[in-house]
Amino acid sequence: MNRERSEQLFEEAKQYLPGGVNSPVRAFKSVNGAPIFFEKGKGSHVWDADGNEYVDFCCSWGPLILGHAHDGVLNKVSTVMANGTSFGAPNKYETELAKLIVDHNRYIEKIRFVSSGTEAAMSAIRLARGYTGKNKVVKFEGCYHGHVDSLMVKAGSGLATFGTSTSAGIPESFVKETIVLPLNDKEAVREAVKNFGHDIACIAIEPIPANNGLLLQDKDFLLFLREICDETGILLFFDEVISGFRVGFEGASGYYGIKPDMVAYGKIIGGGFPVGAYASSAKVMDCVAPEGPVYQAGTLSGNPVAMAAGIAQLEACLKPGFYEALEAKTSAFVKTVQDYVNAHGYPFHMFHVGSIFWLSFSNKQHVRSASEIPADSGEKFRVFYDALLDQGVYVGPSGYEVGFVSEAHSQEDLDKAAKSIIVALDKVYG
Ligand SMILES: Cc1ncc(COP(=O)(O)O)c(C=O)c1O
Repeated sequence: MNRERSEQLFEEAKQYLPGGVNSPVRAFKSVNGAPIFFEKGKGSHVWDADGNEYVDFCCSWGPLILGHAHDGVLNKVSTVMANGTSFGAPNKYETELAKLIVDHNRYIEKIRFVSSGTEAAMSAIRLARGYTGKNKVVKFEGCYHGHVDSLMVKAGSGLATFGTSTSAGIPESFVKETIVLPLNDKEAVREAVKNFGHDIACIAIEPIPANNGLLLQDKDFLLFLREICDETGILLFFDEVISGFRVGFEGASGYYGIKPDMVAYGKIIGGGFPVGAYASSAKVMDCVAPEGPVYQAGTLSGNPVAMAAGIAQLEACLKPGFYEALEAKTSAFVKTVQDYVNAHGYPFHMFHVGSIFWLSFSNKQHVRSASEIPADSGEKFRVFYDALLDQGVYVGPSGYEVGFVSEAHSQEDLDKAAKSIIVALDKVYG
């Protein structure tokens, strides 16, 4: 497959953009070659600058649950956009999208729209602190909450409870209030709550951790978090930027039947436009300005075009049977690959929940924490990725990223992808 034009575009981009990109994982550092520059997407397919066609499972890292350039989304967006793109004043689409979400979610009463998942998580943390008057935040190793200063933290060395920042430019004093714990470890949570509970504002978790592989938690662990939060007055904060509207309209909260005290959304909520949101009970949300003392604002927050895209996409998600159909085709796709893998004894497992899947280069049937991922997975993924791309199947360029099946993926797409994954696995293990 010739990707010369993408290579040229990347060379040019590097002269003006750091690393040639506006978000690091796009730079193909974990795989071979130059990033692919896309020119067009329609449904489940994308075309690159050299005219190559791929079945796309990155789906812009999750937002495109209906596929690329969905007619319903495009029509709504162009109608609204024709009347202006932004006013910096209230518009009816904000309320329409809020109503659509809140009326179909048992766990939230009010919602505030922002412009990214990072902003949603950052604002939720501020609100948790403002509402409780407490300072510390518990997060889990292997969960990502955007590039929020206080959450760019990994576990400290040895027995240190507090984390160390994972990016230059974040003073250690900023992360001093963050406690980093291993996933799926009740004892670690108990210990942290025992020692610092009086000053913990919230426990933040991706209830379906999907940024370091797909680290599916025991439901029991999530229920335990709910209980310990209830006992101590700590807020339970579900970061549903990936899982929200993905594993069901109510996200992981609905999937597990667990009520979070606060939730963050992003990705699907914006129909492919930059939207995030955080939500909670009216009592908690009314602490946000202008009602309450927790300041948070945004020039483009609630932008009518982005709201319109969100409305069109979420209305489609509410169609009866939407999530069941997505889950069914994802399960069948995963089963085709897994049956082959099992028959050949390859040390590989394809995890999935709803329409999220993860290609794990180990035969562990349960991977619940980041530390369980074998160190040589990256090298295997690199070989695998070349073979997959050459067959016209695109997934995110890192073995730690998950893939997404959209409504637009046809049986033919999924058959082709399963076949291509099998060929790529034969390359890795054959
Ligand atoms: C769980 C989670 N939270 C927050 C974010 C940050 O969202 P954004 O990239 O829109 O800032 C992401 C991004 O992938 C995410 O997966």
